[in-house]
Amino acid sequence: TPNTALAGKTVLLTAGPTREAIDPVRYISNHSSGKMGYALAQAAALAGADVILVSGPTALPVPPGVRRIDVDSALNMHTAVFEHIERCDIFIGAAAVADYRPDQVASTKIKKTGADNLAVTMVKNPDIISEVAGRTNKPFTVGFAAETNQVIEYAQDKLQRKGLDMIIANDVSRTDIGFNSDTNEVTVIWPTGQQALPQLDKAALAKQLIDLIAQQCTLLRC
Ligand code: PMT
Repeated sequence: TPNTALAGKTVLLTAGPTREAIDPVRYISNHSSGKMGYALAQAAALAGADVILVSGPTALPVPPGVRRIDVDSALNMHTAVFEHIERCDIFIGAAAVADYRPDQVASTKIKKTGADNLAVTMVKNPDIISEVAGRTNKPFTVGFAAETNQVIEYAQDKLQRKGLDMIIANDVSRTDIGFNSDTNEVTVIWPTGQQALPQLDKAALAKQLIDLIAQQCTLLRC
């Protein structure tokens, strides 16, 4: 029987890294490959949802049945998300969004000089998922917490501070899971419960996460 857990729902996801330009040829970024977010987009589509995937630069193909919008920086990701936020029932933030960006983008390539040090001053980016969760009429909002230590405590703190409905705690200190690997092992936390999932390939894990999201979302009548 076909999976209809998210039939009639629109799911908006972010995935991948962001690139924060320093000058026309350089940027600051991170190790996100997009695999986790793309697996979730695919699992949501297989569960019958309309899926919009706002993606930072990745090497991945668009999953079947998914509409992808390509972005580079956190500011562009922010704009793309809020162009589509109105019609979504569920928002999943799997992207590794840069918390800071260089305060100025040089218009020409920065040249090497005689100086031994070069400082780049950074300014804060908007927190996309906090803004989504802060809306009146907010979608069911699911975040990730990528942490290297005190993973569960920091995830619980982010769930509350960002006003999320669910958070997926991801230990990124391990190289066999998380960033850029094909498997992941996470603990899912929501305000009234939590569930640890075993290490699984990202497709199998995504299916379980989408089932949990559909369950909690139904309980909240989202
Ligand atoms: O892409 P892969 O290689 O498959 O790796 C998967 C992953 C490790 C990137 C993924 O599982 C993951 O944990 N993604 C979130 C990474 C992250 O940036 O976490 P964070 O703890 O810094 O952010 C917390 C939440 O706020 C996240 O849902 C993030 O998308 C969101 N956020 C953060 C900053 C910001 N400016 N805007 C946001 O929306």
